[in-house]
Amino acid sequence: MSILTARAVATAFEEKFGDAPAFVIRAPGRVNLIGEHTDYNHGYVLPMAIDRATFMAVRPRTDTVLHAYAANLDRSTEMDLSNPSRNPSESWLDYLAGVAHELHVLDKPVLGADVLIMGDVPLGCGLSSSASIEMAALAMFEELGGFKLNGDDGALLGQRVENDFLGLSSGIMDQYIIRCAQANHALLLDCRSLECTQIPLTLKGCTFVIANTCIQRALTDSKYNERVGECATAVEALNQKFNRQATHLRDFTQDELMACREDMDLTAFRRARHVVSEDTRTLAAAEALKAGDAVKLGQLMNSSDSSLVHDYEVSCDGLMAMNDSARGLEGCYGARMTGAGFGGCTVNLVKTTAVDNFVNELMNKYTDTTGIKGECIITDAALGAGLVQ
Ligand code: GLA
Repeated sequence: MSILTARAVATAFEEKFGDAPAFVIRAPGRVNLIGEHTDYNHGYVLPMAIDRATFMAVRPRTDTVLHAYAANLDRSTEMDLSNPSRNPSESWLDYLAGVAHELHVLDKPVLGADVLIMGDVPLGCGLSSSASIEMAALAMFEELGGFKLNGDDGALLGQRVENDFLGLSSGIMDQYIIRCAQANHALLLDCRSLECTQIPLTLKGCTFVIANTCIQRALTDSKYNERVGECATAVEALNQKFNRQATHLRDFTQDELMACREDMDLTAFRRARHVVSEDTRTLAAAEALKAGDAVKLGQLMNSSDSSLVHDYEVSCDGLMAMNDSARGLEGCYGARMTGAGFGGCTVNLVKTTAVDNFVNELMNKYTDTTGIKGECIITDAALGAGLVQ
C-alpha cells in the first residue's frame, strides 16, 4: 500500500509555503510484468502502474519562476522557466526543466509556480521514479497553462526529455504507462504503433508482489545505451543478410534471426535473441492474463528472466538470488527481474493465500544469501498521472 496521501503532501506544502496549494498532482510509478528491453526495439511491453507515486502540490505564480522544493531530499531551488536548462548540482530538477523545455518546443505556455515535490516511489529501483516525476511535471504545466496533450503526445514528450534532454536512449514504456494507466488494468503496448490494449487484472486468487533488492542500479545509463547500440548492430547484420532496410529488431522473425547466426557478432546475436523471443512471450503473456492462466503467465515470466540473465545480461547477483529464492517458495507461479536491470526490483506472481508467507520467507532468504535487507511492495494497478480530485 502507498504510504503517502495527497492530503499529507498538501499539508507539507502549507508548512513550507505558508498557505494551501491550489492543486495537487499525482503520477504513479510502474512495474513491468513482461516485455523487457523491447520498447526501444519497437516491440511489445506489458506494464501496470503501481500505487507508489510522485506528488506535486502547486501554487501558481505571476512570473516565469519555478520555485521547487524536493521534500524527500530537503532541497529547494529556483529556475527561470523561460530558459530551462540542466543543473548539475540539483539534478532532480532536470526532469522538470526537460519537460518545460519540450513544452516550449511545442509552443505551449510554461507558467511559473511554487511547487513541493514528494514521493514514495523508491528511487533508482526499476519502478520508474524518473518517468513518474516527468509525467507529474507535465500534468502540472498542463494544469497551470490550461492545455492538455493527448496520451500519446504526453508520453512521447516524456521520452524526448530522456532521449534528447538527458541523453538516455530509453523507449516509450515508462512514460506511456504512467500517463495512460487505468486502475486495475495492465496495458499491452505496441511500442511501434502505440496501439494499446487495457487488460483487466482479473487473475483470480493471484497477487503481484514486487521485491526490491535494495541494490541501486549501477552503470545503468552507460550499459543501457550499450544494449541499444548492440541491438542496432544486430539490425545492421540482418539488413545486410536479407537485403532490407529495416530500422528495428521488431522487423525480424525468430527464423530470420537464426538464419543469420553465423553472419553476426555473437553478442549482438544473443541480444537480438532476447528481444525477438521476448516479444513472443509478451504477446503470449497478455493472452494468459486475459484467460486467467496464472501457471502459463508464471512460466513466461520465468523464461523472460532467464533470457535477460543469459542473453541480454542485464541481471545481477542480487536479482538472481531474489528470483532463485522466490521460485522455491510455495505459491510462486513465476518471478523475474523488472525494469532496466543491474539492480532494482523483481516482480513475482504469487497465490494470494500464500503471499504473507512468501514475503516473510523471501525477505529472510534474500538476507541470508546476500547480507542485504530487501523490501516487498504489494500493490494494486493504479490510475495514470493527473490532478488529484
Ligand atoms: C527502462 C527504460 C524503458 C525500458 C526498460 C527496460 O525502464 O526507461 O524504456 O527500456 O528500462 O525494459
